[in-house]
Amino acid sequence: MDLQQSRIYVAGHRGLVGGAIVRHLTSLGARNLILRSHRELDLSNQAAVDEFFAAKRPDYVFLAAAKVGGIHANSTYPAEFIRDNLAIQTNVIHSAWKHRAKKLLFLGSSCIYPRDCPQPIKEEYLLTGPLESTNEPYAIAKIAGLRMCQAYRREHGFDAIVTMPTNLYGPGDNYHPENAHVIPALIRRFHESKLSNASDINIWGSGKPLREFLYVDDLARALVLLMEHYSGEEMVNVGSGIEVSIATLAHAISNVVGYEGKIMFDHSKPDGTPRKLLDCSRMRALLGPTVMTALEDGLTKTYVDFRDNVLNAQRDMHPDLAQDAEK
Ligand SMILES: NC(=O)c1ccc[n+]([C@@H]2O[C@H](COP(=O)([O-])OP(=O)(O)OC[C@H]3O[C@@H](n4cnc5c(N)ncnc54)[C@H](OP(=O)(O)O)[C@@H]3O)[C@@H](O)[C@H]2O)c1
Repeated sequence: MDLQQSRIYVAGHRGLVGGAIVRHLTSLGARNLILRSHRELDLSNQAAVDEFFAAKRPDYVFLAAAKVGGIHANSTYPAEFIRDNLAIQTNVIHSAWKHRAKKLLFLGSSCIYPRDCPQPIKEEYLLTGPLESTNEPYAIAKIAGLRMCQAYRREHGFDAIVTMPTNLYGPGDNYHPENAHVIPALIRRFHESKLSNASDINIWGSGKPLREFLYVDDLARALVLLMEHYSGEEMVNVGSGIEVSIATLAHAISNVVGYEGKIMFDHSKPDGTPRKLLDCSRMRALLGPTVMTALEDGLTKTYVDFRDNVLNAQRDMHPDLAQDAEK
């Protein structure tokens, strides 16, 4: 990938992953980034996508646009999750191939693996057991996307590669009270509890389940390297190996935010799967050893982003309240 010359399209550049890819490509000196917001180009509209590819003819495509959300959003809008994701990825993969893109990188997610598969999760465990029911429509769409990439490689020789990131966090995350993933949701709760001087915070479950987290800028670095150096049908897990319990995570966020109350765990609430960790041997074999951002450092940068995000939104809506949030 010649960063000076290549036309590089990052689909979903205003999202968590797309934003990090753009930051990284820009820092490497990429000159010809092609970016369209959802409002400018609805990727579920086949005719619009085809017209865009015909006009812009990107050489490289990072497909980081998707309808993404937590358990609540997935169970409330299963039709949108399967329909939008099937449409976005089908349109982008097909038009990229048709208009002769040199390469496309597709992003799956660790939720495509069977609910009860052995840990750490190897790529070959795909389709060896039932999926987690709460996000099945989303996972099925992602599995169709990865199979589509493999089929276009086999039938058309299209260089489409597939990556499976673990749980991500970082600047640009979604801090919505209902739709956010665990780290941004906890950052918001600890921040609000600090402002209201709440004496304790109650967290669902025992705090014991183990989860892996990857700072999104580390993902972006890996994705650009894979785009440059990997061409193959086998999908590649992308994780950090940084595995912590929910309790350790909560204490780390509490420290970063400066919350001084107690953290309580509500053992009557479900824990979910006890452990979820990707086996990233394939990634390490392809990219060599990589230094990952330590959890505390990543959380600190994310909290700065949250404060900017919240303060800006509050300044726009209620100029008088913004002063409180700055404490
Ligand atoms: N976040 C994670 O922890 C995680 C983990 C593993 C894998 N991934 C994968 O990474 C990819 C990106 O996720 P993310 O966390 O960056 O999501 P995100 O922050 O929600 O960003 C997704 C982007 O896609 C855009 N988009 C959605 N529907 C669109 C449409 N119809 N047309 C055009 N643009 C559209 C969104 O724009 P609007 O907001 O304007 O709709 C947004 O900018 C997904 O494939 C996801 O499965 C994410």
